[in-house]
Amino acid sequence: MSRMFVPGPVDVDDEILQAQVQPMLPHRSVEFEEIFRRASEKAQQLFFTQHRVLLSASSGTGLQEAAIRNFVDKKVLACVNGAFADRWYEVAVSNGKKVEKLVFEWDQPVDPQRVAAAVKTGGFEALTIVHNETSTGLQNPVKEVAEAVRAVVPDTLILVDAVSSLSGAKIETDAWGLDMVLTSSQKALALPPGLALAAVSDRALDKAKTVENRGWYFDLLRMEKHRLKDSSPATPAMSLIFALDYQLDRILAEGLANRFARHSAMAKRVQAWADAHDLSMYAPEGYRSQTVTTIKNERGIDISDLNAFLKQRGMRIANGYGPLKNITFRIAHMGEIQMDDLEELFAAMEEYLKR
Ligand SMILES: Cc1ncc(COP(=O)(O)O)c(C=O)c1O
Repeated sequence: MSRMFVPGPVDVDDEILQAQVQPMLPHRSVEFEEIFRRASEKAQQLFFTQHRVLLSASSGTGLQEAAIRNFVDKKVLACVNGAFADRWYEVAVSNGKKVEKLVFEWDQPVDPQRVAAAVKTGGFEALTIVHNETSTGLQNPVKEVAEAVRAVVPDTLILVDAVSSLSGAKIETDAWGLDMVLTSSQKALALPPGLALAAVSDRALDKAKTVENRGWYFDLLRMEKHRLKDSSPATPAMSLIFALDYQLDRILAEGLANRFARHSAMAKRVQAWADAHDLSMYAPEGYRSQTVTTIKNERGIDISDLNAFLKQRGMRIANGYGPLKNITFRIAHMGEIQMDDLEELFAAMEEYLKR
């Protein structure tokens, strides 16, 4: 298994698939509430938070929308250096919020000082930033951005998309002063798609109390009210919660430090492989993702043809995203992927390149 080197949905271990196959329970039963509570409490360790972790029966985009609906009354700053940051901007626009886009080149990190300068005069209640841009393989300096913003307008809420990095890279929600960190199940957590998780700070929930038209399904105050009773306002994605509960045990048994080290070592290995084949990385040194590496296709490899070759060996990689299609390709190393899997991939890629 673990032969899909694509940035989600990723391979799911058989044990996890099996964990879903349990009889349904009434969701307002003590038995299910116990599992719900357990999963949400264990998840706090992944987010490095003492605050709550909310579980949403949606994909990550649902929680991008929740962030906007709950924490933005008037104006939000969207830091954009990739496709998913741009989606969050569009989510804000389509929810009728005033939003300013602070644009960076896709191959450059969000610059903390430029963000601080914008926040100083902009009158923003919140800012959005993507920790790990899956479209570019760039990891943004979220901690530094939060620090710079706190130095100028401390009550700005910091809303972070960690969809493709949470549990693959260390994100210290409380220590970095982040107000919402959201993620999806189908990426670094290596679960099937359909579940989203978010750590949410107390001050963010206080802010939500002042925001009207939060909607119903993604009203985080309603979700929090039910979470306090180990439940959710609407029917939860029960099978996915069974799987999450089980997967969190596996992740914590691996050890978070070991897990982050495994991802970091794999990222370095992919970079070294690319270097050795005269290919350079799209993201600059110091800002490269631990979970997905984007490589410039400087050898003009036919990515579809390469993938057709790899698929015969039960593997696949990802083409570049959107405008980066064919001029880059992506090798994801998140979730269950191990170093040996990468070595097998590289052996196959070398065979292809030699043909
Ligand atoms: C960084 C990032 N944010 C948001 C999303 C959207 O997540 P979902 O598909 O779970 O809604 C993705 C999906 O690939 C992503 O990579």
